Amino acid sequence: MSRRIGFFLLALLPLLLAALAVGGVLFLRQGGFAPYRIPPGAAHPVAATADVLARGEYVAELGNCVSCHTTRGGVPFTGGLAFKTDYGTIFSTNLTPDPQTGLGGWSVEEFRHTMRNGVSRNGVLYPVFPYAHFAQVDDADLDALFAWLQHLPPSVRAATPNRLEFPASWRPALIGWRMLHYRPAPALAASAAGESPQRQRGRYLVDGLGHCAMCHGTRGSMGAALAQGDLAGGRIPGLGWYAPPLDATQLQRYSAAELADYLRSGTSVHGSVYGPMAEVVYGSLRHLDADDALAMASYLKSVPAHAAAPAPSLALGASSSGVSGADVYREHCADCHGREGRGDGTAYPPLVDAVAVIAPDPANAVRMILYGGMAPTTAGNPRPHSMPPFVEQLDSAQIAAVANYIRATWGGRSSNLTAPDVDALHGIAVD
Ligand code: HEC
Ligand code: HEC
Ligand code: HEC
Repeated sequence: MSRRIGFFLLALLPLLLAALAVGGVLFLRQGGFAPYRIPPGAAHPVAATADVLARGEYVAELGNCVSCHTTRGGVPFTGGLAFKTDYGTIFSTNLTPDPQTGLGGWSVEEFRHTMRNGVSRNGVLYPVFPYAHFAQVDDADLDALFAWLQHLPPSVRAATPNRLEFPASWRPALIGWRMLHYRPAPALAASAAGESPQRQRGRYLVDGLGHCAMCHGTRGSMGAALAQGDLAGGRIPGLGWYAPPLDATQLQRYSAAELADYLRSGTSVHGSVYGPMAEVVYGSLRHLDADDALAMASYLKSVPAHAAAPAPSLALGASSSGVSGADVYREHCADCHGREGRGDGTAYPPLVDAVAVIAPDPANAVRMILYGGMAPTTAGNPRPHSMPPFVEQLDSAQIAAVANYIRATWGGRSSNLTAPDVDALHGIAVD
């Protein structure tokens, strides 16, 4: 009997060794042991000149720390904002220098390590924290950022416990996630030979601090970013919005100067920002200086076109609701967007070639019609115009018809949304 078990184990041995080898390779590819070694070293007071503090503040703005680390009406940078994922809710943390509940006890070495590796004294961090992108930020910027954060008024706010299902609730399980889905980014300089300083700066801001691919990248299962710096666009997980690809083709209707201005002001003659992008402009991009805005714009316009994404599947059939989209448009939309869909300067955006109209995914068009929107107030757009919600005025069949009409007429999208498709986009929490 024991002989039999012995043979059985012997037969399993190669399998076990193979599993160990694969595990080992995956473990090395997510960075080996290095990410889990938090640098020792006590907190030491950070002396900083006014110049360093000003730089740190700018870095914090470009990284949009405030949007994710502040609740509505809460003390800025004290965390507590909820992030809904497929596995439960994760809460952001206190970044003020309170020694117990914030970063007061941290050294700059630990801060750098956490920003680049996504592991802190509290364990392995969830990838809602965009460390894969912050890994590209250089030492000088991270040190200035830390100095600035340590000069904020300390504010006590204990972490809200995450509400996650097992095994996602168990931080060490994230090592498994990292083995499957995380690869440390190559150092920025290494892949940038022969690039103009302006393009390099733009790429640094877009791929690093700006973490634009967090929304504009295509995501696979379990929140995996498919490739570093990938800007191919797609439906943003957890949010009912679609982020367009960012590349030469998508952005051809802007000149580089127009795009730079759009990033800072949130508006242009080609359209204005809405949904999560409005928050990015308000929390971050409106602070860009002119050179950095132009560097980002030039870089984005130089990104090679991505392959066109397929349209998501819709509940086809029964599209002949008898409602004329053209009639709905003439009655409810043409006053602002114009009969020919050409809009009115920067006040009312054109619908010809608009993001929501040319997108393979109709989510943005439907959501704008349902709930309306308003671009953020910025120096370049001090009195933004708004679009009214139509959720009370139009029924789902009318909304489907007018969305199909604008997408077919001005976006070349043979769109056959039905009332149930509109209902499916209803009620996704707008936050
Ligand atoms: C997209 C949202 C988002 C952005 C942007 C963001 N963070 Fe966070 N951050 C989070 C979340 C969520 C956590 C908590 C993760 C966890 O508990 O695993 C976190 C955790 C952290 C931690 C770890 C704290 C600890 O106690 O372990 C640090 C440090 C941090 N963020 C700093 C920053 C800084 C600095 C910026 C701006 C440059 C920034 N974050 C931008 C969402 C964000
Ligand atoms: C939180 C999610 C999110 C993040 C982060 C984000 N975006 Fe967006 N972005 C969107 C969405 C959604 C849209 C579509 C709505 C709109 O046009 O305003 C959009 C639209 C845009 C557009 C308009 C494209 C066009 O064809 O007109 C540009 C340009 C853009 N984003 C640039 C950026 C840059 C640069 C960054 C990084 C600094 C960034 N975005 C980060 C969600 C995001
Ligand atoms: C009172 C003026 C007004 C009316 C009426 C109006 N809109 Fe808008 N629309 C706007 C404004 C302003 C924006 C930009 C809002 C923002 O950036 O948040 C906008 C944005 C949009 C967008 C997003 C464009 C893009 O860049 O992706 C779509 C789609 C749209 N409107 C469709 C419609 C349809 C369809 C109707 C009629 C059912 C309509 N609008 C009625 C003012 C209006």
